[in-house]
Amino acid sequence: MAKAKFSSKLGLIAATVGSAVGLGNVWRFPAEVQGGGGAAFLIIYILCVLILGIPVMLAEFSLGRAGGTDAIGNFAAVAPKHRRWRAFGALSVLTAFLIAIFYMVVAGWTLEYLWESITGGLYTPQDGMQPGAELFLVKKSFYITDPWRPLIATIVVCAINLVVMLGGVQKGIERLSNFLMPMLFVLLLIFGIFSLTLPGAGEGIEFFFSPDFSKVTPGVVLKALGQAFFSLSLGMGILMTYAAYYPADTRLARTASTVSLLDLVVAVMMGVIIFPALTSFGLQSHGVMGTALVFVTLPEVFMQLPFTALWSSLFFLLLVIAAITSTVSIVEVCVRCLEDRLDFSRRKAVFSLMGIVTVLSIVCSLSMGPLNHLTIAGLNFFDLLDTVTANYMLPIAAIGMCVFVGWVAPRNLLENQLTNNGSFRTHISTLLLYIIRYVAPLLIAAVLVSNL
Ligand code: PHE
Repeated sequence: MAKAKFSSKLGLIAATVGSAVGLGNVWRFPAEVQGGGGAAFLIIYILCVLILGIPVMLAEFSLGRAGGTDAIGNFAAVAPKHRRWRAFGALSVLTAFLIAIFYMVVAGWTLEYLWESITGGLYTPQDGMQPGAELFLVKKSFYITDPWRPLIATIVVCAINLVVMLGGVQKGIERLSNFLMPMLFVLLLIFGIFSLTLPGAGEGIEFFFSPDFSKVTPGVVLKALGQAFFSLSLGMGILMTYAAYYPADTRLARTASTVSLLDLVVAVMMGVIIFPALTSFGLQSHGVMGTALVFVTLPEVFMQLPFTALWSSLFFLLLVIAAITSTVSIVEVCVRCLEDRLDFSRRKAVFSLMGIVTVLSIVCSLSMGPLNHLTIAGLNFFDLLDTVTANYMLPIAAIGMCVFVGWVAPRNLLENQLTNNGSFRTHISTLLLYIIRYVAPLLIAAVLVSNL
């Protein structure tokens, strides 16, 4: 079953970074910086990426490239005598499937905001209200809970995914990433420079880069761990699936470091964009971060700038890019699984998967509005998917994967993969094995327990 490989080094980096850079970098990271003592959080976050993120990424890469198949099959491929461990692969595929459902909806919101920025709808007075925080809040709930508008956006996102997926790994995912990722970095650069030149920008930068360690609690550290995990797309089978498309001469350690570094750079640039903008416009006291930051507070900033529609459109374009390149990676996990487990052709796999995902995403989108009253444990469908996957399923799948690579898989798996079967030397495999065996499972378990 010779499957496609990424056609170039740049392409595989673009695709993998495309997956990692998502809405986690855009609205979760700045929010956690704000709550976690500015640079104090940043420092802890960087340590988490180094100690946990890169090693776990390498474990996933190794398993994926050695197995060369889908996230379930990889486990059986590298340790045929321990086939039961495939259960953790199955868990990550299921997690990916569930995340895909609600991420389509969230990606839809970004698309809707792009549309509303281009058409100017977001900044049009409504019900006697002038554009401003109050109106943006009203619009936010409208754009998210109105039955039709977010629904259409969600369906468009699913359709984009369908088209990209039909193109396959090289002509779909890789081409899309090669085109969009450079654009994303250019946009970040434009906004970064702009933000830094705003009057009063220094205050925001000072907040971001001066550490307040008094805010650091064990909870903050666990949050940083969780954030590193989510941001690097770990534990969802994504990296494993992509690594199966890496050519044999790809240097995994170098790739993992590059991807993690670029993901970090994007997160830091978001901070550099957002904090000065907030202080410059006197909005830092808003405090409400997360989705309100991008859907309410930033429109307030754009409103006060000349060329509001242009800035707003470019910013939401940036968000759409971040979101779309993440959705394709999560869909690929499931598509590859259908191809390899059930012997589906690419077309059949893409159509059947996207059919189901689209229907469930529609339900998920409606669960924010008309179906909001249907709840399980007090959570609507959307929140349920978000909570269960991120808090429980992801960490369990990741612990299983680390224990498998560290203890069950052949001992030389990591070493062979890191050195491309001995074609060069590495000094990190012993340290890496130690982290994968002991440190990572324990740290992830701590995150899991703290979520209970
Ligand atoms: N790494 C992504 C982010 O930061 C997380 C993600 C990837 C979510 C792929 C879904 C699909 O947002």
